[in-house]
Amino acid sequence: MSRTEDPNERERLDIMEELPVAVLGATGLVGQHFVRMLDGHPYFKIAALAGSERSAGRPYADAVEWAAGGDLPAEAARMTVQPASAEAVAASGARVVFSALPASAAGAVEDALRSRGRAVFTNASARRGHPDVPVVVPEINPGHLAWAARRKRGGGFIVADSNCSVAGLALLLAPLRPFGIRSVAVTTLQAISGAGRRGLAAMDIAGNCLPFIRGEEEKMALEPGLILGSLGTDGVVPWPVPVRASCCRVPVREGHLLSVSVEFEGPVGRDAAAEALASFRGLPQELGLPSAPERPVIVRTEDDRPQPALDAWAGSPARARGMAVTAGRLRSRGRGLDLFGLVHNTVRGAAGMCLLTAELAARQGLLDG
Ligand SMILES: NC(=O)c1ccc[n+]([C@@H]2O[C@H](COP(=O)([O-])OP(=O)(O)OC[C@H]3O[C@@H](n4cnc5c(N)ncnc54)[C@H](OP(=O)(O)O)[C@@H]3O)[C@@H](O)[C@H]2O)c1
Repeated sequence: MSRTEDPNERERLDIMEELPVAVLGATGLVGQHFVRMLDGHPYFKIAALAGSERSAGRPYADAVEWAAGGDLPAEAARMTVQPASAEAVAASGARVVFSALPASAAGAVEDALRSRGRAVFTNASARRGHPDVPVVVPEINPGHLAWAARRKRGGGFIVADSNCSVAGLALLLAPLRPFGIRSVAVTTLQAISGAGRRGLAAMDIAGNCLPFIRGEEEKMALEPGLILGSLGTDGVVPWPVPVRASCCRVPVREGHLLSVSVEFEGPVGRDAAAEALASFRGLPQELGLPSAPERPVIVRTEDDRPQPALDAWAGSPARARGMAVTAGRLRSRGRGLDLFGLVHNTVRGAAGMCLLTAELAARQGLLDG
């Protein structure tokens, strides 16, 4: 896809000068979705693709096992993979960095890039929840992004997206919050792509379910509070509602299914909850950002939805495919509501969320200078 030349489309997207960006971990699953979504992007242009020692120095087309759907973008295919170092990123001229590194490799290089004045949008959990590093879902807490960007540490800033299941959960809880939520319980059925390109042995998952994902239940208990929390003088004051999670890996390629039970202060009817979810909109929709889905939450009424096979790629327009969360099977029980939600783990739960946050930062002038 080439950058649009249609003047009406350019005006609709409020096109600005393209900012050079780097993708760290570009050969991994999340990194590939960055490369896919950045192809022909109206705000950003890829200046560097970085990987581990295994890939550095090789053409991207040779280093990557393309699994992000569609064809490998031609421009990216020809680029040489760089080492994932602050020096290499600086040499490329990239001003914005998308990080899809494992947490173990991410912290030091992300800190170094922030010190060099870069805006870092990261999928890694290495710095998530640190006082200076907000966890941002652009429809829910755009103020946390602006706070971090204006506070700039060492010239730049780091903003994290949430854990992939939390991305879906937060987008289900934010529209229901006005009803007064007292507690949340969630069970996840998570796709194998959530474990990365080489994350799981086929022998372990074929025809099987694994009732444990290391660190996942802890992230699900912690991160909704950071996203739904308010800003105090020293940072985020967490939303105080308890979230209890049980996480399971299932033999599905992409899309995490969540079974959610919410307890409210008073009775909430099914129709009122469905209306709140379906009508939910945020700043990305108001601004018409390129990767913003028209409807962040799509409510299905069929008995057998959402399903990973049918709903993982929900969202329109084309740039926002995989960015909508699908809700379904809403069942009201007095002060309680049970429902299912589905989130595309590598798109809304990872690359797409970071990209949407960066688009918002660009439109708000937070990446200038
Ligand atoms: N998969 C998901 O659904 C998901 C969702 C949300 C967040 N995340 C997070 O996003 C990040 C990437 O996940 P993924 O699923 O894309 O993993 P992945 O498929 O395993 O890819 C990892 C990437 O990091 C590179 N890398 C690995 N070790 C490195 C090192 N020591 N130094 C430099 N680069 C290194 C790899 O490069 P080479 O290919 O060159 O070795 C590859 O590009 C992780 O922090 C993960 O927790 C993943």
